[in-house]
Amino acid sequence: MRYVSIENVTEGMYLAKPIYNSQGSILLGKNFQLTNIYLKKLKELGFVGLYIEDEISKDVFIEDVVSDQLRMDTVTKLERIVEDTGNFEELTPFLSGIIDNIIENKDVLLQINKLFSYHNYTYIHCVNVGILSICMGVRLDYNREKLLKLGMAGILHDIGKNQIPLEILDKPGKLTEEEFDLIKMHPVYGYTMLKGSIELSSITKIGILQHHERCDGSGYPKGLRNEEISDFGKIIAIADTYDALTSDRSYRPAYTPWEAYEYLIGDGGVHYDFTMLTIFSKCIAVFPVGTCVELSDGTKAIVLENNPDNPLRPVLRNLENNTVMDLKNIKKHHALCIAHIVE
Ligand SMILES: [Fe+2]
Repeated sequence: MRYVSIENVTEGMYLAKPIYNSQGSILLGKNFQLTNIYLKKLKELGFVGLYIEDEISKDVFIEDVVSDQLRMDTVTKLERIVEDTGNFEELTPFLSGIIDNIIENKDVLLQINKLFSYHNYTYIHCVNVGILSICMGVRLDYNREKLLKLGMAGILHDIGKNQIPLEILDKPGKLTEEEFDLIKMHPVYGYTMLKGSIELSSITKIGILQHHERCDGSGYPKGLRNEEISDFGKIIAIADTYDALTSDRSYRPAYTPWEAYEYLIGDGGVHYDFTMLTIFSKCIAVFPVGTCVELSDGTKAIVLENNPDNPLRPVLRNLENNTVMDLKNIKKHHALCIAHIVE
């Protein structure tokens, strides 16, 4: 199977995975053969890409670190808590399940697919940030108790946005200085809202407060620098930026994982903590399995496997002669690198 952006999916292709509606129910099942009518409907619903099964990807197997079902159930639960009960402690069993999934699949890199409808973007983004943060915590050898605290901070990082009017949050044009100043208050609003909660730990609350602080002091709300920022704040800053960049927004198309990775690494030490970026690069698939690429010599290939120690040089299958090439083998492939993503 391989992931294909919706513009490149054509009539007659087969779905390799079920797709879900915003309530978490299956909309179309695995092996469904797509027609133009369904493709038009899926585009209208905001789907940006689909997993398809075809000839060139039949030997490509994509392992999910966290199951789609658990991700969807966590999104639904978070939405219900925020809009109804306000009891964030109810997220603990879901976070615990995510931790179990990540520990069980420690050797598999995260491919956060964008298979869900766009309409509940906010909650999906929060859950993705929780998952990415926990994944970094596992690589940092945090114990289960600390992973739960980190996951809670990741999933609730933007909870303070609840107190900002929707017309400002969803404003399509440029924000005024006053509007932007108000948005910049959301970490403080979130912290203040949760400050009195005895169920949530202080490092969780601090992580939420500091997720927009940046190493060079250019962040907000306090303009803290390097060691003044907590590890949770540094982790969530990276997870939040990565997931936002790789999501389709009304004002720009989604970055590929490769582009988002380059953006973050390029900013290492300025905005994002170097040590945490190194940990992060061992968590995500920069070239997700199933991605079709063109190499610097013009060869077309498909990604079969990732090398966690060398995220830019995965294992590929040459689409012209079907040979397998491990780009990590620098001696053999020193003259080759990935030049483009193709579909
Ligand atoms: Fe935020």
